[in-house]
Amino acid sequence: MNHYIRFSPSDSMVDLVNYDFNIIPLLSRFSLPLGYKQNTIGDVCQQAGIDVNAFLLIIHYVLGGVNDENLRKNVKASDIVKFLANSHEYFLSYKFPHIRQNLLLALDDNQSMINPSIIEFFDEFVAKVKRHFRYEERHLFPYIIALEKGEPTTYDIDTFVKQHDDVSTPLSELKNIILRYYATSVPNKMYDVLVDIYNCEADIQSHADIEDDILVPIVTSMIS
Ligand SMILES: [Fe+2]
Ligand SMILES: [Fe+2]
Repeated sequence: MNHYIRFSPSDSMVDLVNYDFNIIPLLSRFSLPLGYKQNTIGDVCQQAGIDVNAFLLIIHYVLGGVNDENLRKNVKASDIVKFLANSHEYFLSYKFPHIRQNLLLALDDNQSMINPSIIEFFDEFVAKVKRHFRYEERHLFPYIIALEKGEPTTYDIDTFVKQHDDVSTPLSELKNIILRYYATSVPNKMYDVLVDIYNCEADIQSHADIEDDILVPIVTSMIS
């Protein structure tokens, strides 16, 4: 097992980031403002309108692989939905356009045969993720909010579990093309994009894992 340190609301936010900088993409997905000063995790979450238990639950899960049942009992499904909806916006409005722009800059004119398919694969991936996100925003999220408010619902969590698929496949194909066939005399930019693509793939996977392993159990416990 790992030696993950459990952070609490009274720990320093800067200490948390210094402990494991892999938290940075998560902080982005929370849209947490920088400028932490001496503030604790609790202070920063409160100022940003984020439930600190929801924050810690997600942090422990992503950084330490710990899915804390006791913490989960104290977290509202709507707070996880808020994080997930914010993450959708982050991927679609910021992360994907950023990677696409860098991908265009990394293309080598000498690879004019392959270049169009590289952009096509990337756009196909974004379109697939967008459809996946929109489905959750139209069906899953409103269902959970209604359930929490005790309002009538027309969707159910089993339907979500059955259809929740893996969206990162086109990214694997894109990485394969670049790694196997993209000989370029100026590779530095393309190496940078590859790092972005690998990180993005891991972030999308972690997003899906939070839906499956944190959100679904919370909703299941609400209806049982
Ligand atoms: Fe999602
Ligand atoms: Fe999803």
